[in-house]
Amino acid sequence: MQHLIKTSDFSNEEIRVLFADAARFKQGHIVPLLKNKLIITLFFENSTRTRSSFEVAAKRLGAEVVHLDVANSSTKKGETLTDTAANLDAMGPNAIIVRHANSGVPKIISEYTKASIINAGDGAHAHPTQALLDLFTLQEHFGDVRGKCIAIVGDIKNSRVANSNIELLTRMGMQIILVTPPHFLPPTTLRHTHHLEEIIDEVDAIMSLRTQTERHEHPTYASLKDYASDFCITEELIGERDIILLHPGPVHRNIDIDDAMLADKRCRVLQQVENGVYVRMAVLKKLTLG
Ligand code: NCD
Repeated sequence: MQHLIKTSDFSNEEIRVLFADAARFKQGHIVPLLKNKLIITLFFENSTRTRSSFEVAAKRLGAEVVHLDVANSSTKKGETLTDTAANLDAMGPNAIIVRHANSGVPKIISEYTKASIINAGDGAHAHPTQALLDLFTLQEHFGDVRGKCIAIVGDIKNSRVANSNIELLTRMGMQIILVTPPHFLPPTTLRHTHHLEEIIDEVDAIMSLRTQTERHEHPTYASLKDYASDFCITEELIGERDIILLHPGPVHRNIDIDDAMLADKRCRVLQQVENGVYVRMAVLKKLTLG
């Protein structure tokens, strides 16, 4: 049984095949490959687009989708996480999609289930389908991404999106520059700076991240406005440069990216959301049909 807990669970060749499937789905070649398959979504943490993206992906391939409402489930009555997972697994799902505020939970659950476990984000650890859809979107624009340079900007230390992208994009041969305030920089051997202006002429793409305030023990900036004055991606900063702009969402408007850049054609945020459905369809196909 194959799971997707972190990006390194898929080899380069598996990703090539996965993206060929995603591209075919995007071209409209969609058949009910997952008819009679059951997919359960188990979200212990809020989600705006990831849960709906997985649900849309599963339904477009003809699967049955059941969402466990964790706020009203037995976990709230004292059932352990692994018992909840084992009970859901007894209903015979083909895949369970898990999001949790703590790193490592999807991996633990995978040890108690027969279904494929797909990590939809665990703490600051990993968010593999987000990194895959980011890579798909970058490849759509650049063709081969090898040698292209991307700045990852913002709260890198607390971001599972950054963590997964660092593994995946490095493996695909991209150069990564981390742009963060000092307290958001994880231990790293990657090139890094605190100043966007310093690297703006070197990059082909920018991935802006949301400040993960829910994971901060202490406020790190006097206000998000102070943070924005150093790290917001603005029209003034980008100018006429040939740079594409990504963000996993939810965007803090005028904190992460300003109104003008969000409306700019170089901004790929909605294309990322669109591609997310096709990439997740390909992931569901791979893990439930093998
Ligand atoms: C991200 C997440 O939840 O990790 N969002 C997403 O899945 N699209 C990023 C975030 O919350 O900032």
